[in-house]
Amino acid sequence: MSDPFLSSGAFLRLIWRIGLCSVLVIASVANMAQENFDRITVESFGTLDDGKAVQLFRLKNRSGMTVEIIDLGGIIVSLEVADAEGVFADVTAGFDIPQTYAEGAGYMGAIIGRYANRISGGKFSIDGVQYSLPQNNGDNSIHGGLTGYDKKIWNTEYSTDLNEARLVLTVVSPDGEEGYPGRVNAMVVYTLNDKNQLVIDYSATTDKATVINLTNHAYFNLDGHGAGSILNHEIRINADRYTPVDNTSIPTGAIEDVSGTPLDFRVAKAIGEDIESSHQQIQFGSGFDHNFIINHASPEALTLAAEAYSPKSGRVMNVYTDQPGVQFYTGNFLNGSLVGKERAVYDSRQAFCLETQHFPDSPNRPNFPSTVLRPGDRLETRTIFEFLTRRARGSGLY
Ligand code: BGC
Repeated sequence: MSDPFLSSGAFLRLIWRIGLCSVLVIASVANMAQENFDRITVESFGTLDDGKAVQLFRLKNRSGMTVEIIDLGGIIVSLEVADAEGVFADVTAGFDIPQTYAEGAGYMGAIIGRYANRISGGKFSIDGVQYSLPQNNGDNSIHGGLTGYDKKIWNTEYSTDLNEARLVLTVVSPDGEEGYPGRVNAMVVYTLNDKNQLVIDYSATTDKATVINLTNHAYFNLDGHGAGSILNHEIRINADRYTPVDNTSIPTGAIEDVSGTPLDFRVAKAIGEDIESSHQQIQFGSGFDHNFIINHASPEALTLAAEAYSPKSGRVMNVYTDQPGVQFYTGNFLNGSLVGKERAVYDSRQAFCLETQHFPDSPNRPNFPSTVLRPGDRLETRTIFEFLTRRARGSGLY
């Protein structure tokens, strides 16, 4: 007959195993609680002049990168990343006061919709019906009209898990809003993960055929948002072609090769290198303000669209997208008239944008990829802003 009690050796082994398991369980529960607590926090961002409250969501990852997003316009109000020495700085331009955003200060950090970029003459047709939009950029319509998605208070939900924090924003854009047909349900999900990536997933449905082009309009300066000129930044854009524009920045409809033009960024070069070129496109844009056609290995594959690097701070930003185009805008029209966060002054060419998108004026250009969304279809698109560092040239580590 076997002994009903364990031998003393077996008993000790059992106690050891139970103890070890308990330690592991306690450690992982504590870790999860700690993680969840740290990854997302919510606070007030003040009120608009009409009394509406604005909420701020601070997403944080394991390495200390933080992204602050408000429910007004889904605006990224700050994005802090480390430089090559491990020093954090906020690399996006923005404001402390929600009302400044509501008044449309350069669309800084905002979700742009229903149609990002310009529509010629503020007019387009779908299925033979013509629609008119507010002409808020000379004769053209820009960034969704007078009250675009950047000025709406979005509904929010958030969650975290062991590797990421997620903020889900939803909004309803009624039929006829700003002249656009169809009631659109739009969703934007910001996810900050532990790979220093801010992933932005856009989706939308409609109940009538409409046009839609969603982007984020963050202005970056990799040396810090108030650090002055971005002309030292080096940019590489993965594009053999671009869409040339007229003197109102509306595409001519042509698709041209970048080779032999100042718009050739296939090999990284400083933004300042050709920005004063007498090339007509640079004159029309008052610098770079152009849509580049991303070289996609296969249509809609997530592709590295652009890389930006500041030799001063060593910060690198990679932009991946499944969108067909990216608007590279060098902040040519910033004029120092707005006081930013920490009393920063944003003057011309002190921040740049890489707005992943469909091409400008696509609704009037049948040869461009279509931006028509029909009932039953769902727009889904993803862009990733990824941050890393590289030592400056000469340090031996570049
Ligand atoms: C446009 C610029 C414009 C800026 C702010 C960019 O998307 O390309 O021309 O000045 O937005 O509206």
